[in-house]
Amino acid sequence: MSGMARGKRFEGGLRPEVQQFLASAGFDWRLLGDDVAGSLAHVQMLSEAGIIEPGLAEPLQQALAQVRAEWEAGQFKPDSLWEDVHMNVEGRLHQILGPEAGFLHTARSRNDQVALDMHLYLRRHEQVMADKLGELLQTLASLARRTLDVMMPGYTHLQPAQPVRMAHHWMAYAAMFQRDLERLHDARKRVDMSPLGAGALAGTPYPTDPETPRTLLGFSRLYANSIDAVSDRDYCLEYLAWASIFMVHVSRLSEELVLWSSREFGFLSLGDGYSTGSSIMPQKKNPDTAELLRGKSGRVFGHLMGLLTVMKGLPLAYNSDMQEDKEAVFDTVDTVEAVLDILPGLLEHLTFNEERLLAQAAAHYSNATDLADRLAQTGIPFRQAHHRVGGLVRELLQAGYEGFDAVPENIWVSLAPDIPYVWLNALTPVALVEQRRQPFGTARRAVLQQIAQLEQWVSNAPSATAP
Ligand code: ARG
Repeated sequence: MSGMARGKRFEGGLRPEVQQFLASAGFDWRLLGDDVAGSLAHVQMLSEAGIIEPGLAEPLQQALAQVRAEWEAGQFKPDSLWEDVHMNVEGRLHQILGPEAGFLHTARSRNDQVALDMHLYLRRHEQVMADKLGELLQTLASLARRTLDVMMPGYTHLQPAQPVRMAHHWMAYAAMFQRDLERLHDARKRVDMSPLGAGALAGTPYPTDPETPRTLLGFSRLYANSIDAVSDRDYCLEYLAWASIFMVHVSRLSEELVLWSSREFGFLSLGDGYSTGSSIMPQKKNPDTAELLRGKSGRVFGHLMGLLTVMKGLPLAYNSDMQEDKEAVFDTVDTVEAVLDILPGLLEHLTFNEERLLAQAAAHYSNATDLADRLAQTGIPFRQAHHRVGGLVRELLQAGYEGFDAVPENIWVSLAPDIPYVWLNALTPVALVEQRRQPFGTARRAVLQQIAQLEQWVSNAPSATAP
């Protein structure tokens, strides 16, 4: 039985270590349900087209369903003697049906079979990920509503720059994840294609109708070219590229959670259920969950690089190198789904040190730009106002003042007789954020609008359409 794919072409068997080396059954086992779904559709087509005897379809389909049930119950275990999941299913069918099982592989190759399985698998999981991403967006919208009136310093170059609403900051991440969801929906168009019927590469001389399995399996279209159908792994690369960009966003967000939960920033705490202690330092509360969310990005980027490298020099059509797509895609699916399961809860369990955030939003001359703007409104060029305020900040820092609000009136009048002291009253974080009223700005109304638009977009997003 182990020689099923080798047939009578060879004199001896495979060397055992080679058999082990070539086998994918240890990791492609998760495709069994999809493999059976594809075979059921293939049998129906063979029977409708009169390629196999009418009486054969039912026993083949029943035996396939039995194999799937055994797999679901965990009773059917992979055997590397049967190389991969496809040969394992066929081997088991032979045990159940005898030689009649051999009709299943008429007008089909493992090349179009494995391509079909991967399309089915990714199509299903991309839908799961799209749904989970929708939940993450809803969580971010709620978090933004919760922190609408929390002020924080906005940064450039990791230097305090200008105050923003914390909600505005979360909504920036929501915008990234929204693009991720759009990209995922777009990628699904190219997963939603059926390669079945392409055979080894050239099509098949039997009078098959590839439209039958395409319709049965709910694919929107067939591949236009059989050579491409069996050698295309763009949809795997596209998924890995998608996942890599998504993980960049997860990693940047996680990095901020790590940073902001540090004693030095002190902006927020992670929930206890998301943090661990140290085995030696009893005082420690470590943001492990955020660290690992950040760290998981590395393996995903690695899988993308790995598969790009596998594919780049391959002549058409199928080559065994392509078996290497499996672990890259599967590990990425597992990783991304786990990340999407963890991240919303982590965000829901954050607590904020609002007083410190407000103090930091006001500190470090974060209102200097606005003072320069105000000065420019008196008719002097902005560049001149910028220089005037910059010089003033330098003098005040030398005199030991950490912000305009710390400067007593008499000192102010002596250093800045040209700038009315009362102007400082209008330079609080809340006043400054409210002046930024553009639709993408940080004023309350603008941010509320951004949140409402996101909530509406999520509720109208394409829902589960794939079977
Ligand atoms: N296990 C193989 C893979 O994952 C299935 C296709 C094998 N085809 C072949 N001609 N050896 O790519």
